[in-house]
Amino acid sequence: MAMRGPHPLLLLPLVQLVACLALASGQPCITQNRLFIRHHVNNPRTPAPNPRAYCSMMMRRRGIYGKLINTFIHASIPSINNVCFGGGTPFPSGLRWSNLSFAITTCIYNSSTRSYTGTYLSSRILIRCCQGRPVYYEERILLPPRV
Ligand SMILES: *[C@@H]1O[C@H](CO)[C@@H](O)[C@H](O)[C@H]1NC(C)=O
Ligand SMILES: *[C@@H]1O[C@H](CO)[C@@H](O)[C@H](O)[C@H]1NC(C)=O
Repeated sequence: MAMRGPHPLLLLPLVQLVACLALASGQPCITQNRLFIRHHVNNPRTPAPNPRAYCSMMMRRRGIYGKLINTFIHASIPSINNVCFGGGTPFPSGLRWSNLSFAITTCIYNSSTRSYTGTYLSSRILIRCCQGRPVYYEERILLPPRV
């Protein structure tokens, strides 16, 4: 699962393609949703001395240490699922944009130091839903808008 290398953004379309292929091959949304929860949900937030320590611990625990960017959402699964319904609005590329902000922690890997920096944030989230379940977290929301 680890994504290493200097061009994380170029990998995103590939990730989406793989997600689509998985769908086309009939892999149930429920399996992808389990992965989404494993990679992106930590509620309540596991205590850690600081965001850096949090990210280091959580990226190891969830088995994705080395992934270039990953966000954990500190909210209940029903409240996140609700973004797929009334709690979110459609966004281009088949995504859903949450009406409300969530407590999140974004972890960004530095491949020189092989360590994470973390940031605790409150932000609206962009996700993709599959049969009413979150299956993909769009990390690009952190980047400046493209014009
Ligand atoms: C979310 O926002 C949309 C668009 O503004 C609105 O139609 C919808 O009612 C909102 N949902 C909730 C739960 O407030
Ligand atoms: C990664 O860490 C090195 C060494 O501390 C630092 O010089 C570099 O700017 C960092 N890279 C990023 C993308 O933060």
